[in-house]
Amino acid sequence: MTTMNDDPALRAAQLRELLNHHAHLYYVLDQPSLPDAEYDKLFQELQAIEAAHPQLRTPDSPTQRVIGQVLDGFTPVTHAVAMLSIRTETDTEASGAQNFDARVRRELGLAEDAPPVEYAAELKFDGLAINLRYVHGQLVQAATRGNGETGEDVTQNIKTIKQIPLRLHGEVAQAAAVIEVRGEVYMRRDDFEALNERQRAANEKTFVNPRNTAAGAVRQLDPALVRQRPLSFFAYGLGEVAGWEVPATHSGMLDALQGFNLPVCADRAVVQGAAGLVAFHQAMGEKRDQLPFDIDGIVYKVNSRALQQQLGFVTREPRWAVAHKYPAQEQVTRLNGIEIQVGRTGKLTPVAKLEPVFVGGTTVSNATLHNLFELRRKGVRIGDQVIVRRAGDVIPEIVGKVEALRPAYVPNFRMPKSCPICGSAVRREQGGIDHRCSGGISCPAQRKQAFLHFAGRRAMDIEGLGDKLVDQLVDGLIVQSLPGLYKLGVAKLAALERMAEKSAQNIVDALEKSKTTTLPRFLFALGIRQVGETTAKDLARHFGAMDRLMDARLEELLEVRDVGPIVAQSIRTFFDQPHNREVVEQLRAAGVHWPEGEGALGEQGPRPLLGKTLVLTGTLPTLSRDAAKELIEASGGKVSGSVSKKTHYVIAGEEAGSKLEKARELGVTVLDEAGLQALLQQPGEAGET
Ligand code: IVH
Repeated sequence: MTTMNDDPALRAAQLRELLNHHAHLYYVLDQPSLPDAEYDKLFQELQAIEAAHPQLRTPDSPTQRVIGQVLDGFTPVTHAVAMLSIRTETDTEASGAQNFDARVRRELGLAEDAPPVEYAAELKFDGLAINLRYVHGQLVQAATRGNGETGEDVTQNIKTIKQIPLRLHGEVAQAAAVIEVRGEVYMRRDDFEALNERQRAANEKTFVNPRNTAAGAVRQLDPALVRQRPLSFFAYGLGEVAGWEVPATHSGMLDALQGFNLPVCADRAVVQGAAGLVAFHQAMGEKRDQLPFDIDGIVYKVNSRALQQQLGFVTREPRWAVAHKYPAQEQVTRLNGIEIQVGRTGKLTPVAKLEPVFVGGTTVSNATLHNLFELRRKGVRIGDQVIVRRAGDVIPEIVGKVEALRPAYVPNFRMPKSCPICGSAVRREQGGIDHRCSGGISCPAQRKQAFLHFAGRRAMDIEGLGDKLVDQLVDGLIVQSLPGLYKLGVAKLAALERMAEKSAQNIVDALEKSKTTTLPRFLFALGIRQVGETTAKDLARHFGAMDRLMDARLEELLEVRDVGPIVAQSIRTFFDQPHNREVVEQLRAAGVHWPEGEGALGEQGPRPLLGKTLVLTGTLPTLSRDAAKELIEASGGKVSGSVSKKTHYVIAGEEAGSKLEKARELGVTVLDEAGLQALLQQPGEAGET
């Protein structure tokens, strides 16, 4: 993306201007237009030019100072001890740690055979640096870093962070004339997602990432608004100290801060030499996705404070610390096109086709744009340089664009008027945000999805009827409707590409086997909009027979538990179409059958869990998640995905996580698999049909 310039003086001047511009947007206005990784690249390019041509290093170069200016609205605060930045290593794996260790050993004049240096390794939190000033244990002021010398007084805003104590714990802290604590204000990922969810619900602009949101909140002039942006804090260092004998090591100091009731991250370690640093970097790299907050690297610090003092500082950075970065979770790449995918229900989904880019540990070339509404909100157009984010386990997302890099002419994207697959008219749903192909099952894309859904494990469970086969069947016009599947013989299947006689026979067998099914499975398999597995079960239980359901009036449908007007209408609409009734008839004629009436759900016995809600978490010793769910439901119970006060039991297996914690918090009864089995064996109410 950077245009190389042969003249180093010109290029250096250009880089300085670019960096200053983006730093202003980023630090002062909190409106970043360039992801950190891109900024770092430009910064390093300038550093390299200045290293090769020292005469080009100007005092005003961004490499020579910490950037950021005081905003009008906040009172300036002069830091008693400057808030410096740290040097960044982007080298992968071992070399980043080895380079740092080698530099430290050289500066300390250590012989080759001298024992390894002891380091404190901790996470590099992705937020905003803050200085908390405590006088005799009392929080008197909180300030941002600003330009390193002078920051801004953000005390009111910082006080909204409940983790930050207003009074430090213990006599030692309270006896101290001054203790300045430094650390990072950040936003947890779940808090960020919830905030964006609220923004969407209110039809407001969503935030780009947790870091910018946290930084924006801290420097928000209206404290009422700050309260709506849940912030968190971790302490990692000190500023001015008077009247407290600071422990001799960095790790000891952090332990002391923790003792003062300050939040200190538990993911830290004291390690020996470069090997220890590498191990920590690797271990945390593996854990990164599971952390509840974003980190962009690891910070290595010489643990002994005496050695820290001996090492001292260079202009911008301490010699005793370094930030060793991980691959960026945000990258800029070109939006090459927008493709339309047609789903089972005919919904048109715009999918971003990206210039492949390595982000968050994988190469990403597609990202969903959800719908036209989201696409417009993001304001991205084909040809734009877009910001792709992949953090944690979440699917890659386009979070914004680099306005400055938009090409001169970019047409706005429009949804097609006809389905790109079948040519049927595209309709925008009344009041809804989705566009849908009106072709129904006559649209090959919808037909394929309908077949796959029908054959799914939780539906008719037809093994072997996967993507590739369905593509061939639909594209080759071999099967046009669901009942047609049951007319497939070995000969027809074996004639298909890459299909041996043996596999063809297996599929015919699987089709045959699937004919014996249950009413809930069959109902779910039909793919009626709004009718998921649970609703299918409720419907089957209520009506007991297919014909009764097909003929049920709207009012009767509304009597079924959890069925509201939208679901009821959708079921009615489905069965009002003669075509759909015919499909049911033909499937029956093909031999698909299920028990009806009393015991239609295979639940003749007692139903001890009637009216009870259970939550499953962790791995049970013998039962799979599905099997446990089926047993609970057959006993009349409901399985929910989250623990609340209304939960009756939590069934916990190995490696149970936050749900178990929540259960303990709320006092919900926690049982293991044996406990569940005991519950199931209880005599209960007789089954209702
Ligand atoms: S120590 C003199 N430790 O990264 C050393 N910084 O340039 C001062 N950061 O803006 C920094 N996590 O806000 C340190 N565990 C950590 C950190 C950390 C995040 C931020 C800090 C600063 C930048 C370093």
